Amino acid sequence: MRAGVNSASPHGLEDLYPVAGRKRLRGEGRAGHYVAVDRYRDPVALEAQARDETRHGATVGHCARLAVDHQFECSVGHRRILGRNFGQRGGRVKPLRPGTFPAVGSAGREARIDHGALRANAAELVKRAEGRTIFAVLKADAYGHGAVPVARTLLAAGCERLAVMTPGEASSLRDAGVEAPILVLEGAGEEAAGELAGRGCAVVVHHPGQVEALARAACAGPVAVHIEVDTGMHRMGAKPEMADGLLRSAIETPGVVVEGLMTHLAHADEPDLLPTLAQLSRFREFLKRARAAGAAPSFVHFANSAGLLCGEVLAEACPEANAVRPGLALYGARPAPHLPGELRPVMTLVGRVASLRTVEPGAGVGYSATWRAERVTRVATVGLGYADGIPVAASNRGALQIRDRRYPMVGRVSMDSVGVEVGDAPVAVGDEAQAFGDGISVEEAAGAAGTIAYELLVGVGGRVPRVHVGV
Ligand SMILES: Cc1ncc(COP(=O)(O)O)c(C=O)c1O
Repeated sequence: MRAGVNSASPHGLEDLYPVAGRKRLRGEGRAGHYVAVDRYRDPVALEAQARDETRHGATVGHCARLAVDHQFECSVGHRRILGRNFGQRGGRVKPLRPGTFPAVGSAGREARIDHGALRANAAELVKRAEGRTIFAVLKADAYGHGAVPVARTLLAAGCERLAVMTPGEASSLRDAGVEAPILVLEGAGEEAAGELAGRGCAVVVHHPGQVEALARAACAGPVAVHIEVDTGMHRMGAKPEMADGLLRSAIETPGVVVEGLMTHLAHADEPDLLPTLAQLSRFREFLKRARAAGAAPSFVHFANSAGLLCGEVLAEACPEANAVRPGLALYGARPAPHLPGELRPVMTLVGRVASLRTVEPGAGVGYSATWRAERVTRVATVGLGYADGIPVAASNRGALQIRDRRYPMVGRVSMDSVGVEVGDAPVAVGDEAQAFGDGISVEEAAGAAGTIAYELLVGVGGRVPRVHVGV
C-alpha cells in the first residue's frame, strides 16, 4: 500500500494535520523514507509496513501526534513538497532514528529507552562492584523498559548474569534468544522447574517444597539453585533456623546443585546502616554453617542497588559476597537521594499537547473540577493519563516539562490525558511534554505523586511504545 508522495491520502495532504502547530519541518536535510500519518486508515497494516521499512534501515519520520494512515516515500528531492504541504497546515514531521518505528496509534506517547545511558549505568555499577559478578535484575519487563533489548545491552556492557522474578519472565528471554545465565528469584513449581532446568536457568529456593519439586524436575537435567535466607526482610527466603535444613536437603537431592546463597536487604536505602549490618551478620552466620555443611556455592550475594551503592561499608561487612543484584540503579534511578553514583535516566516518558484552551477565572478543569482557574489563563491538555503511567495521585501536584520549562498539572489526571497550566508561555498543540526522564527525574515525579520511582517505571502503560535509542 505504499504510495508515491503525489498520490496523497483521499483527504489530501492538507487533511493529514487538522490541528495547526508551528510552521516547522523537522528532519530536513535527511534522506530516506518518511511516514505521514493521520487517523483515517488501518493502523495495523501501516504499522507492519512502517516496521518493515525501518528493518531495512530507512530513516522514518512521522507526525507523532496522530495515528498512522498514509505512508509515502520521500527522497531529498521531494522534501520541498512535503514541507510546503505540511507547512501550510502547520503539521510537524519528526524524524525517528533508524531502527525505531512510529508511535502508531499512540498519539505521540512514547517511552524512549536510552541504551547509551543504560551502558553508562552498567559501567558505573561494574566499577562499584569491584570484581563482583553482576546479576542484572530484569524483572517486570526490565522495570518497564523492555527486557529483551535491555538484556542484550547490559550483557554487552559487562553484566554477566540476569535475574528475573518469575519463570515466565525467564522463558520469554530464552524464547527471544537470550542465552546468558538467568536466576529466577521467585522460585518455581514443579512444572516450571522442569522447563527452567531444561533451559539452563537457576532457581531460588525459599522452602523445602521447592526442593522437592526441583528434585522431580531434575530428570530434565541438573538444576542449579540459590538458597535464600531471610535475615530480616520477612518477605521471602527461609528463616535462618529453617535454612540449614533447606540447604541440607538441597545438597542431598540428586540433580540439584547449590550454586548460590543469598539474602535480601530491607533497609539498605536508609542512611542508618545498623539494621543492614545486623542482617549481614545473620547472613554470615548462615554462610559459616553452610560451609560447615559442605556447601561450596559459586555465588554469594545480598546487594540490591542500594546495597551496592552503599559501597565498602557493606562489602567489608560481608567479604564472602562475590556477586550483586542491582535493578533500579541500572535504569538510572537512585533508591535514595543520599546514595552516591553517577547514574543517567534511561527511560523518558513523553506525550504531546493535544489541545490548548483559555479558561476564565473560576472555570474547573477535569473530572470533578478539582482545580479551578484563579485568573484568565491557558491550559494545555497533554495526551498522557493514568493508562500511560501518570498516577492519579499526581493530580494538582505533579508537573510536565514542555520546551524545557515545567508546568504544573491542573485538574484530576484522566485515563488518557492531563491538563497543565501554561499561562501565556509559548506552548503549541503538538509540542512534546515530558512526564519524567532526562528533564524531570523519575524520582522527583514519583515524589510528587507520593510514590516511588520503581512504581512509576513499571506503571508505564502497555500501549506506550518503547522506542529504543542508541541500541
Ligand atoms: C531479590 C531481589 N534482588 C534484587 C532486587 C533489585 O532491587 P533494586 O531494584 O532495588 O536494585 C530485587 C528487587 O526488588 C529483588 O527482589
